[in-house]
Amino acid sequence: MAKAGGREAAAAAEVVLWREEARRFETPDGEAYLQYRLLAAAQPRSSSSFGDGGGATPAAAVMEMAHTYVPGSKRGRGLAARLCDAAFAHARERGMRVLPTCSYISETYLPRNPEWNELVITEKEPKPSSM
Ligand code: COA
Repeated sequence: MAKAGGREAAAAAEVVLWREEARRFETPDGEAYLQYRLLAAAQPRSSSSFGDGGGATPAAAVMEMAHTYVPGSKRGRGLAARLCDAAFAHARERGMRVLPTCSYISETYLPRNPEWNELVITEKEPKPSSM
């Protein structure tokens, strides 16, 4: 019993770093990572701009989680899930929504972690745009 889950325990102990400039969550060696993009939320056209020219840059409101990668030697023990845990917690802390375009996140991680579904942009919602 004491040794059960050793590989999963190793993944759970793995440090995950946020590299803001690279828009990545990654392990300290950089070999395993989750790559994201920042998008602006789709906004309805406002009819009352008050002559500001509309030139303001919208704040990033959406994290498009685009790609998750774990090297072959470390797969299958929950490391990708650890990267996702960090990225989703980051989005929630900052009040951001999530657009998961990585198949691992949409097909495997989210069904196993449905507590994050409230952050996820659904098919029925307007698509966010590039910033
Ligand atoms: N799409 C959906 N699910 C996938 C997947 C994919 N492309 N690749 C693996 N999975 C599933 C596995 O079948 C496994 O399921 P199981 O637990 O029922 O056996 C589960 O993910 C493993 O989860 P976890 O241990 O958290 O993931 P991992 O650390 O092994 O890493 C990937 C998973 C996808 C990041 C890794 O396999 C990888 O880097 N693959 C190459 C790049 C890639 O295809 N990335 C995803 C698309 S962006």
